[in-house]
Amino acid sequence: MRFLVLLGPPGAGKGTQAKMLSEKFAIPHISTGDILREAVRKESPLGKEVKDVIKRGELVSDDLLEKIIEERLSQKDCRDGFLLDGYPRNLNQAKTLERILEKKDILDKLVSLNIEVPDGEIVKRLSQRRSCPQCGMVYNLLTNPPKNDSQCDNCKTNLIQREDDREETIKERLNVYHKTTSPVIDFYKNKGNLINVDGTKNPSEVLRMIEEKLN
Ligand code: AP5
Repeated sequence: MRFLVLLGPPGAGKGTQAKMLSEKFAIPHISTGDILREAVRKESPLGKEVKDVIKRGELVSDDLLEKIIEERLSQKDCRDGFLLDGYPRNLNQAKTLERILEKKDILDKLVSLNIEVPDGEIVKRLSQRRSCPQCGMVYNLLTNPPKNDSQCDNCKTNLIQREDDREETIKERLNVYHKTTSPVIDFYKNKGNLINVDGTKNPSEVLRMIEEKLN
């Protein structure tokens, strides 16, 4: 049973680690960013509401996120564990999550993993990121390129660059992170359930360190 929260700045490698950890522990990977982007892609009412907010690199409202998370965590596949990626992103969301987990009697099982990467590295990484809109595979043109420059190795779909990975938006996302999201790290630190991991190593080394610290 693993109930995990992944923290860290945009581009720290949360999605990259989450995919590997969710396979290893056989728990669902719940990425609020992926859920919101999927809604935008489908042009659902939620997608229409959040499209411009995401494009600007700002945070979507806490009320919308609360509904999404509460609904997702009530699904059967979350009973024996889950891995949250992108939530909570401010203190209000951290407290909301506590309320939800308290009701489920699993609050004391929550462990947060904080992937640490300096801002300079983030800008380099995100400007080179390409993602598959079909299967969600994430590549990096410099450090983890696809075999064919523009196609996903898995499903051959054309890769895209996320709209919020333009330099100006990356800077705004980093501002939001330092101002609003980083206090969540102290929140978990004060509760004694925070694990820090050096995210500047290569992805398999980061995974190895996470596994070691979780054991
Ligand atoms: P979200 O999708 O959550 O974006 P993020 O937190 O900014 O994180 P990223 O997905 O950009 O990065 P990542 O840490 O997953 O890194 P990745 O593994 O891809 O949120 C997007 C937007 O949605 C928000 O701005 C907001 O508007 C909204 N939103 C989402 N959740 C919300 C919430 N709770 N409340 C309100 N609004 C919300 O890796 C990045 C790149 O680096 C890749 O190219 C990868 O190949 C490479 N890489 C990964 N690991 C390494 C490594 N160890 N070494 C070298 N390169 C690496």
